Amino acid sequence: MPPMDQLLLLPLFLVLAANNVAAGVGPRPVPMPWPEQFHAVLLTNFSASGGRLELIDVYYDWPRGRSLNVVRGQLSGEPVYNVEWVNGSSYLFDNSASSSSCTATWHPVGVLPPNWIDTAAYLGRETVDGFDCHVWGQRFFVRYYQEVATGRPVAWNFVGS
Ligand SMILES: *[C@@H]1O[C@H](CO)[C@@H](O)[C@H](O)[C@H]1NC(C)=O
Ligand SMILES: *[C@@H]1O[C@H](CO)[C@@H](O)[C@H](O)[C@H]1NC(C)=O
Repeated sequence: MPPMDQLLLLPLFLVLAANNVAAGVGPRPVPMPWPEQFHAVLLTNFSASGGRLELIDVYYDWPRGRSLNVVRGQLSGEPVYNVEWVNGSSYLFDNSASSSSCTATWHPVGVLPPNWIDTAAYLGRETVDGFDCHVWGQRFFVRYYQEVATGRPVAWNFVGS
């Protein structure tokens, strides 16, 4: 995967080792939508594909159609700022090098709406990091783990694109 693609994926996921689909899927629960605005902290792990660990502060702002990701590597001080817009435009500001840069890209998915799970397939229940989760699959790319008790997001697993 080229480095830019990898960065585009960052905002979204805690990447886990592949999990097997739960044996009995059961009835489809009502998914919890995301709040219209939130701050979340994500740990991403791309080490299985030769990448690194990153800690990302996500500032999701649906009413304004944007999401800011402040990306920190485990060993680097200055973060990289990635702003995504609902129209698919994405800007990566890197102020960490001696010459700072801004790279513009476009991604067909854009910022996901708060209710994106409504169109996802229900894949059953699994325990992830000790949390009992409902698992949702989006056709093209992701397995999403939502805590059964609270509806909080627990993990994303990017299954390839
Ligand atoms: C990251 O992923 C690798 C390979 O899947 C795994 O061995 C390692 O424990 C993970 N690290 C963290 C902090 O999750
Ligand atoms: C998407 O929206 C942003 C913010 O308004 C704007 O800067 C950018 O040019 C737009 N991208 C496209 C492809 O229209």
